[in-house]
Order: sequence, then structure tokens, then C-alpha cells
Amino acid sequence: MSIRAAVIPAAGLGTRFLPATKAVPKELLPIVDIPAIQYVVDEAVGAGIDHIVVVSNRAKPAVEAYFQPSPDLIERMRRNGRDQLADRLALIGKEVKVTICYQDEPRGLGHAVGCARDAVGDQPFAVLLPDELMQDSSLLLQMGEVCLRSGGSVVGLKQVDRAKVSSYGVIDPAGAIDDAGVIAIRTMVEKPAVADAPSDLIIIGRYVLTADIFDEIANLRPGAGGELQLTDAMRVQADRGVFHGVLSDIARFDTGTPLGWLAAVIDYALADPAINDSVRDMLRARV
Ligand code: G1P
Repeated sequence: MSIRAAVIPAAGLGTRFLPATKAVPKELLPIVDIPAIQYVVDEAVGAGIDHIVVVSNRAKPAVEAYFQPSPDLIERMRRNGRDQLADRLALIGKEVKVTICYQDEPRGLGHAVGCARDAVGDQPFAVLLPDELMQDSSLLLQMGEVCLRSGGSVVGLKQVDRAKVSSYGVIDPAGAIDDAGVIAIRTMVEKPAVADAPSDLIIIGRYVLTADIFDEIANLRPGAGGELQLTDAMRVQADRGVFHGVLSDIARFDTGTPLGWLAAVIDYALADPAINDSVRDMLRARV
């Protein structure tokens, strides 16, 4: 058994990246020549997921369009002798089943995940926040294993300077971290004041959740920022049973801000053997 479905909440307005996101969804901003959301899909597929549920917003039709077949474009690329690119285009939305559902009002991350309920069903599933890019699928794979072994939900964790915790969900550990980075969680709180934070371990945008989370989401009342917070629904799961985190040192980029996006573009360009020499020269000439 493995985790088969992944929810990608992509209905947000991208306000940290305006005016670029006025017309272009932040999930489609290119990291070199690949939209950010494709990297997140690839990460999920690499962890064995075969159903992607994108929670979009009817005001962002480009997200849905990205996953639709493009036979005319593919044909044109083939006629121009660009077979490799044509093959790449043909794979988009094909190597995995993609379901689009809608969150028409921005009511928070908990609400967004709740919109995927019918598409996900009653098996444990992953949630991947698309403005965070991870270096590979290893963290998600490990989180899936911990969920299936323990029977409880799992979040990805990173340790940060205490001064930064109030932008995140923060966990209260119930024990020590084991050799694999796994830690039991007693409870968690969304965007606490630094003085009230139970630890310096923040929840990053990777989750593997048991399907009872949907009942807890349905019971949510507005939390931090007046929004329906996923962290509040997960806290109820943690109160009731086992809940784990996986602390990871995986490379992670926040592409939801101009600077984070730029860092990701530069790193991905430097890692691409087709262009890395030119990119290095270009950067050297400028700094
Ligand atoms: C969301 C979650 C938060 C988590 C963060 C990770 O916050 O609510 O718990 O720590 O993602 O990036 P947001 O960034 O949407 O404010």
C-alpha cells in the first residue's frame, strides 16, 4: 500500500508576488522554463502518487489550462523538428490523473483542502503547497511510510530561528527526535507570537493526512488571520491519536516571493547541465 492522491492547493491570489500575479497565477511562474507547479507534481509522482487534485479558483483558468492536452501545439513542435519538446508537452497531465476542483472564496488552507474531499475519498493523502519546492521526493516518501506505519497524520518539519516562527505552524514535540528525523507531536499552533511558540520546529508545506481530517475541517471555526486553518484541524487529530513530524534538512525554496523565486531560478539553472556553464559566466560577469 502507498499514498496515491496528493492535493495541491492553488487557489490563492499570490498577493506576495503582485503585480506579476495579477494575470499569471504564481503556480505557473517559470523556474527557468518549467512552471513551479510542474515541479510539485513531479515530486508527488516520484513518491508514488498517481492522482493529483488541484484546488484552483475560477478566476485562475490558466492553472487548469496548463494540465489540458495541447495536440495542436505538439503537432506544430513535431513539424518544426522539436520532437523532444513535443514529447515533454505530451506528458503534461498525462503521467498522472489530474482532477481540478474549485475554492471560490479565499477562506484559508483548511478550507482549500476541504474542497478536495470528494476527489480524494477515504484513503490517506498528501498535501503539497505549491509555493514550496523541495529538492526531491525523499521527504514525501518518508512521510508516507510513517503515516502508513503509524496510522496517523504526518507533517514535514524544519528547524528555524525562533524569531521566524510566527509566520508558520509550530509544533509542540511529545518526545525526542529519532535517527530518521521522526518525532511524535503533542499539539501545534498556527502563527504563534514568538514568546508563545512551543518550539522552533515549523510545519513546512508537506503533509500526509488521514482522511478523518475532512471531518475536522468541516468543524473548523476561523483561526489565525480569521481563516479556516489546516493546523487547527490537525491539532484535533493530534489531541485524539498519534501524530508525527519528519524533521528534514532537504533543500526547500519558497517561490511565493520575488526573492525566493529568484533563488530557486538561479539554483535550478546552476543544476541544469544544458545551461549551467553559461549561467555561471553570466552571474560572474555581474557580481
Ligand atoms: C501555511 C500553513 C502553515 C505552514 C506554512 C508553510 O501558512 O498555514 O502552518 O507553516 O504554510 O509554508 P501560509 O504560508 O499559507 O501563511
